[in-house]
Amino acid sequence: MKAIIPTGGMGTRMRPLTFTANKHLIPVANKPLILYPVETIAETGIKEIALTYNPGQLDIIQNFLGDGSKWGVKFTYILQENPRGGLSNIFQVCEKFVDGDSFVMHLGDNIFTGGIKNLADHFKKHKPKGLVGLVHHPENVRLGVPYFDENGKLVKYVEKPENPPHDFAVPGVYFFDPIIFNCFKGKDKITPSPRGELEISSAYQWLIDHKYDVDTLEIEGAWLDPGKVQDWLEANFYLLDLNTKTKIGSEFDKTVKVTGRVTVGKNCAITNSHLKGPLNIGDNVNITNSTVGPFTSVYNNCVIIDSTVTESVLMESVVIDKVRKNIENSIIGPNSNISQSNHSEHYSELLVGELSKISL
Ligand code: DAU
Repeated sequence: MKAIIPTGGMGTRMRPLTFTANKHLIPVANKPLILYPVETIAETGIKEIALTYNPGQLDIIQNFLGDGSKWGVKFTYILQENPRGGLSNIFQVCEKFVDGDSFVMHLGDNIFTGGIKNLADHFKKHKPKGLVGLVHHPENVRLGVPYFDENGKLVKYVEKPENPPHDFAVPGVYFFDPIIFNCFKGKDKITPSPRGELEISSAYQWLIDHKYDVDTLEIEGAWLDPGKVQDWLEANFYLLDLNTKTKIGSEFDKTVKVTGRVTVGKNCAITNSHLKGPLNIGDNVNITNSTVGPFTSVYNNCVIIDSTVTESVLMESVVIDKVRKNIENSIIGPNSNISQSNHSEHYSELLVGELSKISL
């Protein structure tokens, strides 16, 4: 079996952060988003992974991920010309790479905290022509929704229906037999939806309509879909809580108080501060006279002076300088600089894009 991970799309729901960054490289709990699917696929034992990219993005993705040897896999980079081609268009452009094998497509912006091994094992054992994962989701109106017959068999797969009959949704992991490439050929080939995309639901519907077996299986663990800002912030909190281990990679003296699970990277200079876990601090971070955390991630090269930062995400090289109000529930893009002005209130709530400069 092979795997496909898309790294394209427009990233519109993550603006302004995606004006200057590919969504898949934005960190979640201090780890670039794309690494979650790469690790999840590598855990299944699959060795060949295609990473699809849109025009202009190859260097960014390839420079970051390399050839795959770091994870014991081999990456092949494949161009998807149209960033709005749709999820079925992503594997359509990978037909040569798949080369008659079965495959799984794992969206590059989805996180499965329990992995996808149960799905891969089911697919290998039962060999259906398609397999979709299932999750319960309160807001499935904005997702793909499966419809079942009285025996629990998938009979319909609808993209973002207005009135879903239950709370099941289809997350971003899709298994296929290579027969699926026939859905792009012949008179009854799938066509773009009203939003102009070759939808993933159309491919599964094609299998169902041609009487091929399509199985469904609930995923294990949590599914995180940090496709829009609030979900992404919540994914940060969830993963910080789940994964933070106490690991202090820099030295500091007794003026630093540590409460709860805190990870600190290399070459950090921290003095006279309170670090509250779950908290993840990257490398080369400077913290002075401040309280940081809980539920906070601070990426490499940040500086925090005389400030309180809680339940927030600081991306690379952010400076927070003598801000009197608490910075809370905030996302601060790379290279932003926030410093104190003369106004004073209890806290500030911010969503700031790359290279922003804010004086409070
Ligand atoms: O996240 C799960 C949902 O993903 C499913 O429930 C839906 O059935 C499925 O259609 C999809 O819905 P979205 O509308 O949220 O997909 P989105 O446009 O966000 O694209 C998902 C990922 O694929 C994202 O990493 C961007 C990438 N992408 C998307 C398109 C349309 C591409 O690389 N190329 C594309 O043409």
